[in-house]
This record gives sequence, structure tokens and C-alpha cells, in this order.
Amino acid sequence: MVVANWKMNLNLAEALVVSGMVAKCSEPLRNIDIVLAPASVFIYPIYEHVRIRSKNLKLALQDFYFEPEGAFTGEISAGMIKGVCSSVIIGHSERRKYFGETDEAVNKKTKFALKNNLAPIVCVGESERFHLEDHYQTELKRMKSSGGIISQIDKALAGLSKADIAKVVLAYEPVWAIGTGNAATGVYAAAVAYIVKTYIEEKYGVPADEIRVLYGGSVDQKNVKEYMLQPSLDGLLVGSSSLNAKGFCEICRITSEVKSGQLL
Ligand code: PGA
Repeated sequence: MVVANWKMNLNLAEALVVSGMVAKCSEPLRNIDIVLAPASVFIYPIYEHVRIRSKNLKLALQDFYFEPEGAFTGEISAGMIKGVCSSVIIGHSERRKYFGETDEAVNKKTKFALKNNLAPIVCVGESERFHLEDHYQTELKRMKSSGGIISQIDKALAGLSKADIAKVVLAYEPVWAIGTGNAATGVYAAAVAYIVKTYIEEKYGVPADEIRVLYGGSVDQKNVKEYMLQPSLDGLLVGSSSLNAKGFCEICRITSEVKSGQLL
């Protein structure tokens, strides 16, 4: 799965141009899921624009609220994008940092997404870099401590059935790597994904190979192959490099080729 998180970028004209180009290049890449997450105000025009151009491009919301309707000024409900979006990004570090999104809200949104047949793309990430190579046990402890990614995952998955946990897509996004150009190495991201999958299998009984973990944080056309060659990484969440259609299409093409075994 490759997700383009456009954040608060692109005006309508730009968004139509980029989404049209991505729709075209996504069409033959049938072995991967390609997902665009535009600003919510453009979801409908983009949906109309891309659905006639590609059967292989899905849309996601960047956020939503966990109530079906009501007096919640500024919010969007799952019902409003029914049939238009297939997934929703939940708990992105920017939402946690600037909009006070708590682990509890992430849990409520995850449950609400599942209830409404939307795949939750739950973002987790620590703010300081681990040194996995040196002190595995110490770092595992740190992952489980407050603010660590395992603690974020436990809170996000609280109260979910095994079947529902298998539908959650986890996006490992180290905060220090987002928008900094300081990407995690493929080996590092893969090690974290592996630890996360093993932990979920042991704690929740969901087989590790049923859990999808994406990596996000300064992904671009140059480093995409490094991540996709790692078996424990199932895809990417791409921010700034997804704003350029040519670059994003290249990321999708490389992902498709690596995961189908054509590009090693
Ligand atoms: P970036 O953003 O690719 O610009 O680092 C990733 C994200 O925030 O999802």
C-alpha cells in the first residue's frame, strides 16, 4: 500500500492535475493499493475526476470524527464520504502535536472507522531516535513506555477483536523523520516493523503476516527501494514527495516492481 498524504497542500486546480496523473500511472500497478489523501474539501471533485481514469486508485480522509453526526463544528463524519473513501488516516503526529489528538481519540476513531467499513491507517511514531542495534532490550522497554510506539499501539488497539486488528494498517512514522529529509534507514524501519508485528502476534494472537505496517518519514524516489526490499514493510506513507505526480508515480512503480519480484 502506498499512501499519498497531501496534508494542507495543493489548490483545487493543482489537486486535479496531480490526481489525474496519479490515476493514469496507477492503472497498471494492480499488485499494490494506491491511496490519495487530499484535503477533505476536494475529496468529491477528485473522486469524480479519478474514478473514470483508474480502477486502482483509492481515496482516504486525512482525519474524521468518531460520531455519526451532530453539533461538532468543523468535523467530518464517516457517513459523509461513504462509498468515496476506503480508508482514513488516524493519529498522524501533526494531529497529535498541533490538534491535541490523544491516544484515546485514536482508539475511538479506529473503532469508528472499522464500524463504518473504512480501513484505519493508524500512525504511530516516537519523537527520539532509537538505537536498536546497540541495546535491543532497553529500546524495547522504551517502545513500551509512555509515548513509545508500542504504548501508542496498545492504546489504539484497545478493545478491538482479532479480526478487526487484522484490518488495521499501522504506519510507523518516526517524528524525527517526518518532513526533515532525515529518513530512517530501510533496515531500521524494517526492524521496528518486525518488532511491532511480533509483539502484536504475541499479545493479540493476530498472525504477524496478517498485519500491515507502512513506513513514513522523508520517503522519496531515491530511497523507496530500500524500504520496499524489506519483507517486514508492507508499504509507505508519503508526504512531501506525493505532491509531485511524476515523483509519486515513480514511488508507486518501484514499489509495485519490488513487491512483485521484478526489481531486486
Ligand atoms: P514526509 O511526511 O514524507 O514529508 O516526511 C510523511 C508524513 O507525514 O506522513
